Amino acid sequence: MRKANPIRARIKHSLRRILILLVITLSFAGTIAAQSSAESATIETAAWLRYERLDSKTLHRHSQLPSNIVVLGKSAVLESAEQELVRGLDQMLGRKLAVKSSIQGKALILGTLDKIESLGLALPEFITPGNDGFLLVHGRIHGADCVVITARNDRGVLYGSFALLSKIARGESLAKLVEQSPYARVRWVNQWDNLDGKIERGYGGPSIFFANGKVRDDLTRAGQYARLLASIGINGCTINNVNAAPGALEDSFIAQVRRIADAFRPWGVQISMSADVSSPRIVGGLDTFDPLDPRVAEWWRKKADEIYRQIPDFGGFVVKADSEGRSGPSAYGRTHADAANVIARALEPHGGVLFYRAFVYNHHLDWHDLKNDRAKAAYDNFHALDGEFDDNVVIQIKNGPIDFQVREPVSPLFAGLRRTNEAIELQITQEYTGQQKHLCFLVPMWKEVLDFDMRVDGKSSPVKDLVSGGFFRRPIGGFAGVANVGMDANWVGSPLAMANLYGFGRLAWDPNLSSEAIVDEWVRLSYGNDPLLVHTIEKLQLSSWHVYESYSGPLGAGTLTNITGNHYDPGPESSEENGWGQWHRADHQGIGMDRTMKTGTGYIGQYPPEVQTTYESLENCPDNLLLFFHHVPYTHVLHSGKNVVQHVYDSHYYGAAQAHEFVAQWKAVAGHIDEARYRDILARFEFQAKEADKWRDVICGWIYRLSGIPDNKRRVGSPASKNPAGSTVPGEIRGTASVKPA
Ligand code: GCU
Repeated sequence: MRKANPIRARIKHSLRRILILLVITLSFAGTIAAQSSAESATIETAAWLRYERLDSKTLHRHSQLPSNIVVLGKSAVLESAEQELVRGLDQMLGRKLAVKSSIQGKALILGTLDKIESLGLALPEFITPGNDGFLLVHGRIHGADCVVITARNDRGVLYGSFALLSKIARGESLAKLVEQSPYARVRWVNQWDNLDGKIERGYGGPSIFFANGKVRDDLTRAGQYARLLASIGINGCTINNVNAAPGALEDSFIAQVRRIADAFRPWGVQISMSADVSSPRIVGGLDTFDPLDPRVAEWWRKKADEIYRQIPDFGGFVVKADSEGRSGPSAYGRTHADAANVIARALEPHGGVLFYRAFVYNHHLDWHDLKNDRAKAAYDNFHALDGEFDDNVVIQIKNGPIDFQVREPVSPLFAGLRRTNEAIELQITQEYTGQQKHLCFLVPMWKEVLDFDMRVDGKSSPVKDLVSGGFFRRPIGGFAGVANVGMDANWVGSPLAMANLYGFGRLAWDPNLSSEAIVDEWVRLSYGNDPLLVHTIEKLQLSSWHVYESYSGPLGAGTLTNITGNHYDPGPESSEENGWGQWHRADHQGIGMDRTMKTGTGYIGQYPPEVQTTYESLENCPDNLLLFFHHVPYTHVLHSGKNVVQHVYDSHYYGAAQAHEFVAQWKAVAGHIDEARYRDILARFEFQAKEADKWRDVICGWIYRLSGIPDNKRRVGSPASKNPAGSTVPGEIRGTASVKPA
């Protein structure tokens, strides 16, 4: 028998203790980690509606706020407004509002204008809030000082309630009267969700609406999304992909969609659906979908009646036809107006609207023909039909003539439809701008588009006034944003990218807000009021588009990304010699697409005369769009004084260096934000910096190989340089594919 050894026994005992301690420590740490990641997921999901407890100074400032809330009237939307105020004031100020049915003393009063006026409160005469607008005012009612939120409709009251909460959260005073009206009637988001739950160009997880061909059982996230949308004034959401599955219009599916509408209704957000024009044949069993066939018209009429029976506040349809392989009226020799009107007439008795997308182009264009130009397609297809669309049709036009590139001129079609409603389509999801892996705050880009003066008839006519319907006095107009949020805790796949969703809503409400004001609101609501954090995030966001453009898309060259593949990696050679588009026409002599009227594709001729003058001549054309409009030798000297090739080198080295700077800037906020979000965002910036280096090397190498001109700073093309003969990145592809992947 072995004798017990006391030393060994002691060691064994100590080891056991250490082990137990380790297990306890690890499981404790595990709980903390789980807790903090759960907490940070909750913060992410709350987005800009966090209602974080405010500091004592702010609490004091609002100590005079009433403690009672009275809602005049009854509706699901008014109930949301009441609950939001109760929740928000409790969380931010610790003030528990008592819900009263009548006014006794000081109160926060919510109600439409007629209800408020019947209380004898004289509202200032100049106040005429438009549809969905609101008024936030102090007034004496029954001898007591009250805070009143009023509007023409319940939705306006809800918007006013969110505005009050936002002001409090951002530490603003409530002393001043607030009156706001939206710029345009249409403020919609589009979701490109497929019925199987995948989202086309979605980077934030699977659909919040659909899974496995059905509407999800649990629509909690849909309700939360509607609340977020309402808080920024969005009043419509198209729930399925523009590449629409006809099955979405089956009656059995509509019955399911009704549940989504029920989740959205309390927030005043109408739902709408994308529809495939061949549905009468595929779903309805007809032998045709010819828009001029009376049986087709009857099918659409019955379909609309059925939808409105189930969803009385249905917004309408979005249609993509004769584009990228979708069915369209061309199958019967009919026009886009024929296709739009037959559906619009079915919606009209119910107040519905038909959005017909101008994104129509031939993706089999012969690239050998230098006069062929995809950029001309929208104008060519729709301008001639101006005036032929019914009054409840809206032509939905992408901001640029191509497809959401990092820089494009504005679509000339905005100025080309005088007797047709229009809306601008912006892409919130960053398909071509880094897919949420790169920081790219798009509001500054959208502002440039919306403020661009088209000089219609020689008059001031910024795009925002063309799309709102203001300039051409159209009954409907506005904004559609492709949002593509998903089930991820932070909705879009990256916390800082949420600024784009927020910014889209704010611009759709008021395109005159500055980028600085919008980002300031968003940061304070989402991250609190810590000055260093606010300053750092604002700086990062405001410079990010410029930085992304610097390392990915010089001088308006159009896409240099892998256009026949993932739309993310650099792949400049993929964007030529296929039917999908003609982008930069780079060869050994020069680069750029000649779109002039004199020698090129003639695209510039689609703009009003003053804009033509700006773009047609090399002297007037801005550097940042030079290669979009002109084919020039690499040695062409820009307004900046540099030649084209040196600009490309410099801008890519600058852009990549800036991306590395982002990491350093972010490190400065350590300790000013919770650890989970700090680390998550840091890892994203570190990744972006590496990706920016990759972009820099591929693009600089590519342009060096084509031009043979070395970098005068010896970074590219000289034997001593890091990048002597071009790309060092494996996997760069030559684009010969003719099929664009889904
Ligand atoms: C882009 C995008 C497609 C989308 C299309 C559209 O081309 O890559 O996925 O279907 O736009 O807007 O219809």
